[in-house]
Amino acid sequence: MPGARKIIIDTDPGQDDAVAILAAFASPELDVLAITAVAGNVGLHHTERNARAICELAGRRDMRVFAGCDRPTRRPLMEARHVHGETGLDGPDLPPPTMPLQPEHAVDVIIEILRTEPSGSVTLAALGPLTNIATALGRAPDIASRIAEIVFMGGAYFELGNVTPVAEFNIYVDPDAAADVFACGAKITSMPLDVTHRALATPERVSAFQAAGNPAGAAISQLTAFRDRQDPERYGGIGVPLHDPCVIAYLLEPDLFAGRFVNLEVETGSELTRGMTVADWWRRTDRQPNATFMREIDAEGYFRLLAERIARL
Ligand code: BDR
Ligand code: CA
Repeated sequence: MPGARKIIIDTDPGQDDAVAILAAFASPELDVLAITAVAGNVGLHHTERNARAICELAGRRDMRVFAGCDRPTRRPLMEARHVHGETGLDGPDLPPPTMPLQPEHAVDVIIEILRTEPSGSVTLAALGPLTNIATALGRAPDIASRIAEIVFMGGAYFELGNVTPVAEFNIYVDPDAAADVFACGAKITSMPLDVTHRALATPERVSAFQAAGNPAGAAISQLTAFRDRQDPERYGGIGVPLHDPCVIAYLLEPDLFAGRFVNLEVETGSELTRGMTVADWWRRTDRQPNATFMREIDAEGYFRLLAERIARL
């Protein structure tokens, strides 16, 4: 679509990453230039493969998928197989992908795209640990001013943590990368647990995906059913959050979300609170605002949008 917003999806699929990628493919307002895989929920060999399997599910064998960093910038990888299963995409029975993995490293591709596309025209949609993006920024600081926006799923403030008492998974896995990204000077929008925990995939909402009557809708209902089994009680037994599609929904309908432009920092040192994101919500410090930190979501509107998009695939 002419005038479509150009995005790079940086991701560690992941069931909720899969829904986000499918929703992006179904949206003509978005022009997905590349998918860059990062280690996170599971190892890189799984996440890049899962990314390709999702492309094939959506009939997008033309999409370019690149593998990036296989571990956090300064720490060993901590995976989330207890949530996403051994492959990261347990649930649906997707055939092994046959489309190729591109030979270039994802970090090189992020740098190259940002340097060759017009400045301010490419948005980074980050659905996993921020390792690839921070590495690209470290290697090529000139790209920071060329980024239209970094919209990432990660962090928590009022909601505290999902992997430690105070840390959200994507930030906890690579807090050093998050710190570098938060400080890079680009426009940043955060979709924290404060938002995602208020939009649960209830059976009714999942059945709307199924009603699409296409392979993507069927796969999503199996993906969410798998996730539901991992955490039956935690969210009151009525479904699990679908975190990562918030990033895509924000790009399509920003008014589904509300937040504040505040200072956002991350704890990288303390063993007790490592990966905790600190949002200066009440402007208690003179630290400069650097991110729009979302706090509210129109959950009905969010699921309506996702179901409507998935039905197009
Ligand atoms: C985030 O962690 C991952 O497990 C999900 O894919 C999501 O990106 C939620 O904390
Ligand atoms: Ca993810």
